[in-house]
Amino acid sequence: MLTQALLVDDSRSVLNFLKRHIEAEGLVEATTFLDPVEALACARERVFDLVLVDYEMPHMDGISFIRALRTMPGCADIPIAMITSRQTDDIKMEALQAGATDFLPKAPQSVEMTVRLRNLIQLGAAVRKLNDRAAHLASEVAAATHKLGEREEEIILRLALAVEYRDNDTGEHTLRVARYSRIIAEQLGLPARLCRDIYLAAPLHDVGKVAIPDNILLKPSKLTDDEMAVIRTHATIGEKILADSSCELIQLGAQIAAGHHERWDGAGYPNGLKADEIPVAARVVAVADVFDALTTRRPYKEPMPLELARDYLVENQGRQFDPACVEAFLSRWDEVVAIAPGQTATQLPKSEAALAPFTLGATGSRPDQDRGGESATAV
Ligand SMILES: [Fe+2]
Repeated sequence: MLTQALLVDDSRSVLNFLKRHIEAEGLVEATTFLDPVEALACARERVFDLVLVDYEMPHMDGISFIRALRTMPGCADIPIAMITSRQTDDIKMEALQAGATDFLPKAPQSVEMTVRLRNLIQLGAAVRKLNDRAAHLASEVAAATHKLGEREEEIILRLALAVEYRDNDTGEHTLRVARYSRIIAEQLGLPARLCRDIYLAAPLHDVGKVAIPDNILLKPSKLTDDEMAVIRTHATIGEKILADSSCELIQLGAQIAAGHHERWDGAGYPNGLKADEIPVAARVVAVADVFDALTTRRPYKEPMPLELARDYLVENQGRQFDPACVEAFLSRWDEVVAIAPGQTATQLPKSEAALAPFTLGATGSRPDQDRGGESATAV
């Protein structure tokens, strides 16, 4: 690819001379402008490797031109030579401070001009190679980082599903809680990044169930007080599993696991936190988790009609739930209904789509018992 040069001079004859001279060895393609303002507009649209600009021009002098050019993307390092005739040292110093790389005489062809021009052309080509290489490396790093993020999200979701499969063989609870949580977070006006992270980390809320014995987790009859105490340890165990991670998503998952059974009035567990003491992500997931537990069919109960579950949230806002989270959830009721059990799955995010064979399979085919439902009424 030829080195691309931008030539700016209000003299047509000077421009023609410079263009002929710079293109003489067949290494450069020059674009010329009589008007520096038009030249700047062009430089915003395309990349040049080398710029030669006159000092005295109408509308804008060469120093202002260089100053403006240096602020444009991709123009920080390219060689810029100011064409001078009788300019003083003060003007040349000002041009250097504005970002000029060198000066070229306006005189007819000379050995000095030829050599310096050749050096500038080589410098321009080298800068372009470096910039191309840097851009390539940056895109490689961005792609690798993106892929790493996707893997992170997928592993989190699969970990959550592995736990859920112990007492629920569809994985749908995990995904619905994530979707409800995203709705609440968005409607609360939380930053977009946090909404996304809550959506991705919400599936980890019951990860501590992995440590609950089968005879308690899968017990079909009512739990004793002692068994309920064991069930309740899943919040603390989940936090321990996820704590101290360097991954922000897993840190958020730890907050959610620890706090999703806390209550707004302080009567929850494991720490009896109340109101704003409970991390917002946990307050969000608490509403999503209970609503899904209430409206899901279990071997020991019919699903609660959506309207009744809605009433339950309203009755318990300010007691069990953060009122703002309930209000946010109910303000997007149509979307909630579309996600609720028995509804057709809408378009899945990529990480969910990858798991579609797991999430869109048979529903409720195995007797199960989601103790998340206990949170709605008992604790
Ligand atoms: Fe839970």
